[in-house]
Amino acid sequence: MANNDFMQDFRNALGTFPTGVTIVTTLDKDNKPIGFTANSFTSVSLKPQLILICIDKASFNLGSFSKGESFAVNVLSESQDQISTTFARPVSDRFELIDWESRVTGSPIIKGSAAWFDCSKDNFIDGGDHFILVGRVLAFDSTTKTPLVYLRGNYVNLNLEQKMLLAMEDETTKVVVGALIECRKKIFLIEDGSTDVLHFPAASRLGTFDDEMSLLGRLKKMNILAAEHYLFSVFESSDNKTSLIYYRAQIDEEILSDKGQFYDFNKIPFERLEDEASRIMLRRYIEERELNAFGIFVGKEVDGKVEAITKTNAKL
Ligand SMILES: Cc1cc2nc3c(=O)[nH]c(=O)nc-3n(C[C@H](O)[C@H](O)[C@H](O)COP(=O)(O)O)c2cc1C
Repeated sequence: MANNDFMQDFRNALGTFPTGVTIVTTLDKDNKPIGFTANSFTSVSLKPQLILICIDKASFNLGSFSKGESFAVNVLSESQDQISTTFARPVSDRFELIDWESRVTGSPIIKGSAAWFDCSKDNFIDGGDHFILVGRVLAFDSTTKTPLVYLRGNYVNLNLEQKMLLAMEDETTKVVVGALIECRKKIFLIEDGSTDVLHFPAASRLGTFDDEMSLLGRLKKMNILAAEHYLFSVFESSDNKTSLIYYRAQIDEEILSDKGQFYDFNKIPFERLEDEASRIMLRRYIEERELNAFGIFVGKEVDGKVEAITKTNAKL
């Protein structure tokens, strides 16, 4: 529908503006901590110290923020993308695994954040399908932690691409570069005819469309010409001998291939995927696709949790 296309174009245009990611928190009427992910955070005034965030009128917690007298804004650090995902999803208790404390107003201050602002409510202004919540800063703090960055629907890890290049130069480690190719909520999987096993397209390097042995070359041979690809996952095999680097890309038209096919998100035969790492990765992809908020997974093949990349745990 034309209207949907317009909305998507509008979202895409807004998404070109890189932002940080915050968790906006308060206490509800029963003094229970509540909060949600927001990237609409903006500084308003230096004197007096005012900031704002925009809250969707459809927000489940709108009542607490409109009636409450205070709130806090936590600026997430680079390693906290999982917290961002938790606070953007319908989770019954988003604070269950969160380490937090109270400062001046009692609104939750999340430990490990790059910065925080504890505010009294200064104004609550109508703004289309959102309300603009203006806060007067009563206390704040900041650290030298690198903030989490959000751009075009992705969490951006500013250092990761550089670290990957170093991994590729390390001759003692085998490198596998794979791709999650999506076409309208379907994912492309290659079938191994003899064993019935499914796997993602992969090669030993990303390469170019002209390089037949590279990932992009192999994709081109299957008529998969994705204009843009984003880093999605970097992890080590359980025996520490292989670094696996996965990209994600979207194409508009489903292609026909004798090598594999597109599987609807709801009909993926997970049991046929080649290993547990692939299953974890694909489940995360589908979850984040629904939210349109992609993180970068960095870690070990088996544990499946997001963790900060370090020289020791990923040989980078
Ligand atoms: C990166 C990111 C930024 C977001 N920014 C905002 C925002 O600024 N304002 C907002 O109301 N929702 C924002 N959302 C969506 C909310 O976090 C999401 O709808 C959440 O489920 C709302 O929770 P609630 O209904 O429990 O309040 C954002 C989500 C993501 C992933």
